[in-house]
Amino acid sequence: MNLGLLTQLTQAFGPSGYEDKVRALIQEHVAPWADELRTDPLGNLIAYHRGNGKGQKIVLAAHMDEIGVMVSHVDKEGYLRFTRIGGVYPLHCIGSRVRFADGTHGVIYLEHREDTSPSPKLTQLYIDVGATNKDDVPVSVGAPAVFVRPLVQQGERLISKALDDRIGCYILIELLQQVQDSPHDLYFLFSTQEEVGLRGARTAAFSINPDMAIAVDVTITGDTPKALPMAVTLGDGPAIKVQDSGMIAHPKVRQLLVDAARKAKVPYQLEVLRGGTTDAAAMQLTRAGIPSGALSIPCRYIHSPSEMVDSEDVANAIKLLAAALA
Ligand code: CO
Ligand code: ZN
Repeated sequence: MNLGLLTQLTQAFGPSGYEDKVRALIQEHVAPWADELRTDPLGNLIAYHRGNGKGQKIVLAAHMDEIGVMVSHVDKEGYLRFTRIGGVYPLHCIGSRVRFADGTHGVIYLEHREDTSPSPKLTQLYIDVGATNKDDVPVSVGAPAVFVRPLVQQGERLISKALDDRIGCYILIELLQQVQDSPHDLYFLFSTQEEVGLRGARTAAFSINPDMAIAVDVTITGDTPKALPMAVTLGDGPAIKVQDSGMIAHPKVRQLLVDAARKAKVPYQLEVLRGGTTDAAAMQLTRAGIPSGALSIPCRYIHSPSEMVDSEDVANAIKLLAAALA
């Protein structure tokens, strides 16, 4: 595990629509291994590996963007109100810190409530940047921010903000180095704006027009106290998607991944996810339809500032995908 690279990836600033810093970082790491590199109009980064002319055209997608917040109003005392970028839950926010692009930090807190029984609404939260009045606030309406939380490794577990989906970006970077002999034309797609509606992958898949597409993203687990029953456990191997709320994985892609897991002798799980989806759902419905599937990294506490994955699952995902593309 290259912890230095994963630290850089998770700590980079990249809410949906503002992926520039993440893209620059990834570009630096994939440039030596890609036959071509381009950034498209929506900011997607596409690293191309040329095959031997006998293979298929395959997209591997991981999204660069992360969830965050955006300033919607500044009051005269200098407190900021905000809206969400992607799936941000009020309960995760209270006491959290956010960081703006210019380095300004803010604390999210909750206004006083007489009735504390219902869970708070986003409109009852505010960001305090330590200002004493409106003129003192260094950021303005429209400024995006991300949660602040460092990467920590504890045993096999990795904990950080933005593992959704910088862990997928990490896997694709490592994978590109390992598939230099692949017969296939491979398009490593580092997509934008997934968290706000799978937007980057939709247009990128249209322009690439592949034979097959595979998203690498995170999925929830059923192994925490009173979790919704789900047959995915942290550390039991990467999860091959069967279905989620946005798509039914194409049987051909699913089988390719299952066969690859057996060939590479890595453990795997089958994923049936009730809520949520990935870039694969958008790619599948591109043009006349593209056979699509997904490989998921089991992840606890998705869309909180402290997401948790297992480094063995990450290593096994890379092995599995390398076998699938060999
Ligand atoms: Co997400
Ligand atoms: Zn994701």
